[in-house]
Amino acid sequence: MKFDEFLLEALRRARRVAVLTGAGISAESGIPTFREAQTGLWAQYDPQELATPQAFRRNPRLVWEWYAWRRQLVTQAEPNPGHLALTALAGFVPQLTLITQNVDGLHQRAGSAGVIELHGNLTRYICFDRRHPVSAWAETDEVPPRCPLCGSRLRPDVVWFGESLPAEALRQAATAARSCDLFLSVGTSALVQPAASLPLEARQQGAMVVEVNPKETLLTPYVSVYVAGRAGEVLPALLRAAWPSAAENGLPG
Ligand code: OAD
Repeated sequence: MKFDEFLLEALRRARRVAVLTGAGISAESGIPTFREAQTGLWAQYDPQELATPQAFRRNPRLVWEWYAWRRQLVTQAEPNPGHLALTALAGFVPQLTLITQNVDGLHQRAGSAGVIELHGNLTRYICFDRRHPVSAWAETDEVPPRCPLCGSRLRPDVVWFGESLPAEALRQAATAARSCDLFLSVGTSALVQPAASLPLEARQQGAMVVEVNPKETLLTPYVSVYVAGRAGEVLPALLRAAWPSAAENGLPG
């Protein structure tokens, strides 16, 4: 894979790098993305229609089971070379902020520290009415189970459509976007706000914005460099090209 010297030099010179990832980075780990064809059991459901508080009110069991299915996929999945390359990137640049819209925890399992989770994590639970964090509950026949503190139904600790993002995570992400000199957008359709505006804010502040995605997105016309390809192939190749000695440092792929 060949990269512009201009991009490699910008990467080597960058002091602060911010990375935003979306479902595409986990696609090569076998986790379905949101807006591409779903396969299997849940093919008939539109994820957009299951990821809302209204859907949960209407059919809590369906939503709970959909997340249980996704959690099982995630548990069986392994981080791929894309995740691992971003973990390695933290060792090559002075400051790296990794921001993800994913709820699968694969960046953390790949060894990345300080990951900013904009949309929560499906391995954590809260209750629907009062958002009590819950890690254990009495098993009964009821699905979803109930909060041990207040008796309301449990749900995954993820952000649904129509809900606010965790304020502190969003603040940290916005600060990183505004202060970085290179912003990397990986595997996101760049359709869901406010995450989608982070690369634009970075660009406005003069950062170089690089997009990695096999397909062009709404963001593509605004980026400095668009790299067409899969994250698990492009990211390790990019690191090896920018830091040729990286190959000896155990870069994946
Ligand atoms: P989408 O499903 O909208 O987009 C996935 C993107 O990944 C697409 O642009 C694909 O072209 C790209 N892609 C696919 N395979 C790839 C690969 N191997 N390498 C790199 N890119 C690849 O997922 P998101 O942009 O993450 O929010 O969606 C954003 C948010 O919408 C999600 O966090 C979720 C969803 O509804 C909530 O649930 C709140």
